[in-house]
Amino acid sequence: MTENSVRTDFDEEIDRREVPALKVHPMVLGEGGKDLFAAGVADMDFKAPQVVRDAMQVRLDHGVFGYEAVPEGLYPALCEWQKNRHGWALDQAHILRAPNVLNILAIAASLFTEAGDGIIVQPPVFFDFYDVVQENKRRVVENPLILQDGRYCMDFDNLEALAANPRNKMLYLCNPHNPVGRVWTRDELMRLGDICARHGVLVVSDEIHGDVTFAGHDYTPFSSLGADYAQNAIVALSPAKSFNIAACCSAFTVIADEEKRKVFQAENSRLTVNKNNSFASVAMLAAYRDGGPWLADAMTYIAGNLALLRDRLAGIDGVELIEPEGTFLAWLDFRALGMTPDELTTFLRQKAGWAVTRGQAFGKQGEGFARVNIACTRARLEKALDQLAAAIP
Ligand SMILES: Cc1ncc(COP(=O)(O)O)c(C=O)c1O
Repeated sequence: MTENSVRTDFDEEIDRREVPALKVHPMVLGEGGKDLFAAGVADMDFKAPQVVRDAMQVRLDHGVFGYEAVPEGLYPALCEWQKNRHGWALDQAHILRAPNVLNILAIAASLFTEAGDGIIVQPPVFFDFYDVVQENKRRVVENPLILQDGRYCMDFDNLEALAANPRNKMLYLCNPHNPVGRVWTRDELMRLGDICARHGVLVVSDEIHGDVTFAGHDYTPFSSLGADYAQNAIVALSPAKSFNIAACCSAFTVIADEEKRKVFQAENSRLTVNKNNSFASVAMLAAYRDGGPWLADAMTYIAGNLALLRDRLAGIDGVELIEPEGTFLAWLDFRALGMTPDELTTFLRQKAGWAVTRGQAFGKQGEGFARVNIACTRARLEKALDQLAAAIP
């Protein structure tokens, strides 16, 4: 047993309908969807670490919830976490608080690009990247990933050409990459960083999945590559995925460049993005300080789910697993079934009972694929796989 207090039982079935959880909400599952395998929204079905829940309980019992500063220990805990886990000597002075990660992407776009400018994304990629770009009146510029022998790679030649266009000012990097599960290597990130720096394209790196990696694949924080890389980057960090606390945490903007940081800070102030939520603060502090053993247990359990998925899919014709190196999301290739994207969505929902995320939501390149969240109980995943096996003739 790994240390600290009570161990989480990852097999425990928790009825997420007891709270308005999005994953099982009619808004997401649609009409008549309540019995579907709810595997769309990217959170875990597990209880958060006991250390986090205990810290929140203590804060609750304090009983006074007036205005608060950031707890003294929070930034040091985040810096220690990054140093010990990922070898990144993150400078505390470079950190700003943010409500959430997408807010960081949106503010970065509004501050450092103009309306009509291009923001490069690498599809298939997290669908909200598209929304943030478009809702901020910027243009989505696609540098599609290349699928080679079951593994996605970046198209550096095309990236160089896109970055060289002076109308393209920013790149949204997904590191690690939702939905294809790549944990970008140091070399890949350096190549990307070199291209962007050469052409004055600012890298905005969404690293929300950074801690969620499988054995043998280490996440490299973009700004740990070196000072030159960090100077041309805005990094978004959050413990939301790592500790399953998306509904009760906030995020961190890391900006090494002093001028940009000041501009960002001023914008946070203008937007009054400067309130601290006491529960978010204590949850994040406890998670970074004491949540490591829980995360290790969670990743062991999820790796077990991945093994089950891999084994079962090997016996089902027409579905290929794109092996994830990180994230608790599996990207499945159904193209061999020969269905249109709409037929596939209907088939998965009506025949297999799966409410997963349609591949086309991640860009045109996702047609024929689906993203399934495997951070659920083993029993639930087993049942879902039985249903899929029965549905595919
Ligand atoms: C890559 C990525 N970025 C951002 C988010 C959302 O982050 P937040 O809720 O902090 O805005 C998600 C959630 O699924 C995600 O997968």
